[in-house]
Amino acid sequence: MGKKLSLLLAPLTGLVLLVGVAPVSAAQPQAAPQSGAAVCVDCHTDTVNAFKGTPHAESAKGCEGCHGDSKAHVAAGGGKGTMRNFKALSAADASAVCLTCHDKGAQKHWAGSMHDGRNVSCITCHDPHPQGSVPKALLAKPQFELCTGCHLQKKAALMRSSHMPLREGKMTCTSCHNPHGTPYPRMLLQVSVNQNCYSCHAEKRGPFLWEHAPVRENCMNCHDAHGTINDFLLKVKQPILCIQCHNGFASGGMGNAHASRDRYALNQSCMNCHPMIHGSMHPRGNTFKR
Ligand code: HEC
Ligand code: HEC
Ligand code: HEC
Ligand code: HEC
Ligand code: HEC
Ligand code: HEC
Ligand code: HEC
Ligand code: HEC
Ligand code: HEC
Ligand code: HEC
Repeated sequence: MGKKLSLLLAPLTGLVLLVGVAPVSAAQPQAAPQSGAAVCVDCHTDTVNAFKGTPHAESAKGCEGCHGDSKAHVAAGGGKGTMRNFKALSAADASAVCLTCHDKGAQKHWAGSMHDGRNVSCITCHDPHPQGSVPKALLAKPQFELCTGCHLQKKAALMRSSHMPLREGKMTCTSCHNPHGTPYPRMLLQVSVNQNCYSCHAEKRGPFLWEHAPVRENCMNCHDAHGTINDFLLKVKQPILCIQCHNGFASGGMGNAHASRDRYALNQSCMNCHPMIHGSMHPRGNTFKR
């Protein structure tokens, strides 16, 4: 009922505004209200009301910060073609509007980022006009859904038995990535994969007396960050994981402990005897047994 009424009144108030405001604002431009919402509310009632709880409602530039100058639009009594319509813009042009205010901090490396280059825009992920309650960071969808909506392979990986607690809501994609771009590979928050892992698994950083070369080189030599079907996010199951590199094993190429006859060692997990696989601090830990 209320809605119907405002729809009926919309053209009327528009007319009043047109007649009443246009000549005045031509004479003294600064008299036009700068907090756009007050001008827009009569015609875009629901939009303006829904906008109230959002962070942009506090912004001094109001509606005009994004939709551009409103004089021509208001003077024309509304209608199409006189204000910026985001749906008619290319991804890059839509983002450019947001970047007039958000080109620092987490958004600093947007230009040339993988998302920018692939026509994903700010408004693919953010909705300045949310319906109902205002979501964190104005996200168009909850983060997990948002990201996995396009990254289907990552969704599949995260659904596997072994995964970090993203599904459980204890972590998010943005625990490791900045979707606005970073100067680092794969939009990681840290300079390398290993630095990323150390940021939470600090005990794997060392320093160790005895280092295991593939661990230092890249955690991804053995693990997958998103999910696998093997325990501990291992890419390959044991003992094949180790034998991929230590392939002298079957021919007895690794010394007495692992002669080809040593079925005992092969049939056990290598970790039973070499548990300190990420590195050892023990003076005699050179084979990661202690
Ligand atoms: C006098 C009534 C009126 C006022 C005041 C008014 N609008 Fe509009 N506006 C309209 C009408 C009518 C349309 C066309 C809607 C349609 O056809 O879908 C429109 C369309 C728009 C569009 C879409 C433009 C397009 O090209 O598709 C935007 C954005 C917009 N208005 C923003 C604003 C903002 C921001 C303000 C306040 C600064 C404002 N309007 C004030 C009536 C008004
Ligand atoms: C932070 C930027 C931003 C601000 C501030 C903003 N809008 Fe919007 N507005 C958008 C975007 C982006 C869309 C397109 C949303 C979509 O694609 O569904 C939009 C869509 C609209 C539309 C629908 C036009 C269409 O596409 O048919 C209207 C009307 C509108 N805004 C009015 C307003 C009014 C009135 C205000 C102030 C109360 C306002 N906007 C403030 C970004 C903004
Ligand atoms: C006129 C300047 C201006 C423009 C243009 C602008 N914003 Fe904002 N934005 C702000 C201000 C001010 C805030 C509130 C303070 C802050 O978080 O920095 C804000 C906050 C945000 C937030 C944080 C919300 C939160 O909950 O922390 C998001 C997300 C955002 N803007 C996205 C956008 C997007 C997307 C666009 C383009 C459609 C856009 N902004 C255009 C000024 C602007
Ligand atoms: C691929 C999706 C995606 C795109 C594209 C995207 N964002 Fe975001 N943005 C996010 C997510 C997710 C968060 C929330 C981060 C969090 O919860 O820590 C966020 C947070 C923000 C914030 C608030 C807090 C912060 O980190 O600064 C602002 C402001 C923001 N984005 C602006 C923008 C602007 C401007 C653009 C375009 C240049 C943009 N975003 C493009 C997903 C995106
Ligand atoms: C625990 C940290 C972490 C989390 C959480 C995480 N990622 Fe990643 N992601 C990585 C690492 C590390 C790489 C680089 C892998 C490599 O170089 O082999 C990566 C790579 C990617 C890539 C590039 C393609 C590829 O496989 O190399 C995409 C796309 C991606 N992640 C999307 C996501 C999405 C979507 C989410 C959330 C659903 C997510 N990631 C959560 C760490 C993480
Ligand atoms: C609209 C689709 C879309 C959404 C939503 C989206 N992405 Fe992407 N993302 C892409 C495309 C396209 C690429 C380019 C490479 C590819 O196809 O994997 C990409 C690439 C990436 C990469 C790899 C960057 C590199 O340098 O290799 C990461 C990491 C990533 N996205 C994370 C995220 C995260 C985190 C989110 C959620 C906040 C997200 N994406 C949401 C489409 C999307
Ligand atoms: C933002 C923090 C964070 C980052 C960054 C992170 N992890 Fe994790 N990781 C966790 C949490 C939380 C768990 C779950 C711990 C638990 O349940 O006790 C976990 C668990 C694991 C597990 C054990 C999984 C299992 O099945 O028990 C492995 C393996 C792992 N992470 C590897 C990595 C690797 C490799 C990286 C770098 C690509 C990484 N993590 C980056 C937080 C993180
Ligand atoms: C040479 C293969 C290999 C590499 C490289 C590797 N890991 Fe592991 N990781 C394993 C194995 C095997 C397990 C299972 C341990 C077990 O069975 O007790 C494991 C288990 C884990 C666990 C869970 C159990 C624990 O010890 O906390 C975490 C966390 C982990 N790795 C993090 C990392 C990080 C971070 C890196 C990079 C610095 C890394 N791993 C590199 C083989 C590797
Ligand atoms: C990606 C290849 C790779 C994988 C996978 C790998 N390693 Fe290694 N490992 C190496 C390299 C390289 C060295 C260093 C060899 C050297 O210094 O001669 C090494 C050294 C060792 C050593 C010490 C050998 C010595 O002579 O000092 C042991 C023990 C060992 N690895 C056990 C394992 C076990 C157990 C696994 C499975 C959890 C494993 N490795 C997985 C590449 C790998
Ligand atoms: C029953 C215990 C046991 C199991 C199981 C075991 N190892 Fe060993 N491994 C040893 C012993 C003992 C040595 C001799 C070195 C030492 O005493 O420190 C050794 C040495 C090694 C060395 C260094 C050999 C050299 O001559 O430089 C590598 C590499 C190695 N093991 C890899 C593996 C791999 C891969 C697996 C799983 C397929 C595995 N081990 C399973 C006990 C075991």
